[in-house]
Amino acid sequence: MSIRSNRKEEHLALAQKFFDAKQKNSFDQMHLLRPALPESKAALATIKTSMFGKSVNAPFFINAMTGGSPKSLAINRTLGQIAGKTKIALALGSASILVKEPDQLASFYVAREANPDGVIIVNVNALTKPHDAQKIVTELAADALQIHLNTVQEIAMPEGDRDFYWLDNLKQIRQTVTVPIIIKEVGFGLDAASIRLLKESGFNLFDLAGSGGTNFAQIENARNNHDVSYLADIGLPTVIATMMAAREETDFIVSGGIRNPLDIFKGLCLGGKYVGIANTFLQAMQEHGSQYLLELIEGWQEELANLLAIYGQHDLEHLTELKQYYDLPLKSLIEQLL
Ligand code: FNR
Repeated sequence: MSIRSNRKEEHLALAQKFFDAKQKNSFDQMHLLRPALPESKAALATIKTSMFGKSVNAPFFINAMTGGSPKSLAINRTLGQIAGKTKIALALGSASILVKEPDQLASFYVAREANPDGVIIVNVNALTKPHDAQKIVTELAADALQIHLNTVQEIAMPEGDRDFYWLDNLKQIRQTVTVPIIIKEVGFGLDAASIRLLKESGFNLFDLAGSGGTNFAQIENARNNHDVSYLADIGLPTVIATMMAAREETDFIVSGGIRNPLDIFKGLCLGGKYVGIANTFLQAMQEHGSQYLLELIEGWQEELANLLAIYGQHDLEHLTELKQYYDLPLKSLIEQLL
């Protein structure tokens, strides 16, 4: 196995090792005022929406995780099948490996094969050459391209990048690639200043990937001999990143630390167009199997529709109008950062 493939398998193993379904995060400190008499009815139709021109059963999706190794081939095939059956979007893990190792294409393509008509999003790093990014989009018949910004993860990896002048290449990718582009973080959060810079360059959809869930400083730290554990706490909590993005007049995806349907609902109430879930879904599958994940996602669709009913909502259109209130530590962060 190549060094890159091996790294992908280490990420899978360590994401499992560090997963904590009960981990507290910023969503616990945010609350919504609930009407006791909502005049509503729970129905799956209330959560249907569309993504990149295709209809989907829910505004949440499986976020980018893997590809480029034997284990990731099996995972991507199963995730493709499940995304197809539950009619939600699926983002694949970074496919930048294909530039140097084109024989790894099957480990990504299995997802498209299993889900020929669904929404598939491909993912590359910020230094991928524009024509390589377009090649990957074409080869996987992708509906959109995610480009990840992962400075903390790179620094935490001894073999990682140290040069973060990325904007010029991002602009060139945007001029070349024919599908919508999502700029995403990987769990340390996108801040308002970066969103503004990217907006000036024509980007208009951001996946915030804040802190509170998967922590790549922790994962990379476990792969290394030198201690970078101090980087684990420098992320922007997802709820704060979301409030920042909401002031920037742009579409955004809420992600990072989504554990249950209530977190999804809160993300939508904070203005998220969609909500992304990575490790919670992966670990459900790793621990209990693919049928369990399938039923979990179907269950979450029902539970999200139930939440809309509890909060008196008839569709996804007016969720930001619900009254929000916060515990004091979160309120203090809001006062300091917004
Ligand atoms: C990831 N993530 C990720 N992101 C990305 O843009 N490209 C990638 O290749 C990967 N790889 C990857 C592997 C594994 C095993 C995990 C768990 C995650 C990051 C992911 O998309 C997401 O942004 C973060 O994991 C935060 O979301 P969760 O896990 O807290 O829901």
